[in-house]
Amino acid sequence: MSRKVEPSATRERSFAGPDRWDPDDHERALLRRFADQWAQLRVLDLGIGTGRTWFAFGWRAGRYVGVELVHELARRAVERTAGRATVLVADAARLPLAAGIFDLVCFPFNGLDYADPPTRTRILGEAARVLRPGGSLYFTTHSLEWLLDRSGPDRRGELSTIERQRLADLRPGGSTGIVVLHDDAGNGTCYVTHDWEMDELRSLGFVVTDVHDDNSSSRAYLVERPGSP
Ligand SMILES: C[S@@+](CC[C@H](N)C(=O)[O-])C[C@H]1O[C@@H](n2cnc3c(N)ncnc32)[C@H](O)[C@@H]1O
Repeated sequence: MSRKVEPSATRERSFAGPDRWDPDDHERALLRRFADQWAQLRVLDLGIGTGRTWFAFGWRAGRYVGVELVHELARRAVERTAGRATVLVADAARLPLAAGIFDLVCFPFNGLDYADPPTRTRILGEAARVLRPGGSLYFTTHSLEWLLDRSGPDRRGELSTIERQRLADLRPGGSTGIVVLHDDAGNGTCYVTHDWEMDELRSLGFVVTDVHDDNSSSRAYLVERPGSP
């Protein structure tokens, strides 16, 4: 780890992502999108956790830098990747990195949703800053429409325990745009509508390239920072 900073006010979560190595469906679509370009890409992975994404797709990149808020998770990522991934302990909302130096920035596995809404937007702004013109941002986010579709008694059985807890936290009138839903442990997670996400991305100057919606609990967005490389 080349830099150590203290975690910021952003909520610290110990969930490190799934303990498996294969790409999920959204990540497979990302792999197809960049196909034979991977070896040339300079990739920044926000919220690298214990390093799953390095095994899922990161190893293919020309340069791969991970950022992780939680020191212990970053230490495990360095250990698991045997030092092949560069990992910085830092807050994605305040990246200790120069502008315009990455071809692709990722925030996989809904990691963005564990930040509160203003921090979430700051993180996307930081992603735009460190991308080169024409570079791409990939992230996934929890779909509010997916959750609401399962709020009735007939479909509630499709939800996991934690999703039922989050649904119970949904207040009347709070079902548009973005909501922060809490589980029984008090952890907040953002759920957003597609329209809200599109507005947020456009307000940050991104051009939306692809939306991968496989009717799972999250959607993947691939967006571009306008400009020529
Ligand atoms: C759901 S886990 C995903 C881990 C890994 N990317 C994966 O896909 O398996 C989200 C990760 O993002 C990290 N994280 C959340 N907010 C962050 C922030 N503001 N800056 C850096 N890392 C953050 C968490 O500590 C956690 O390791």
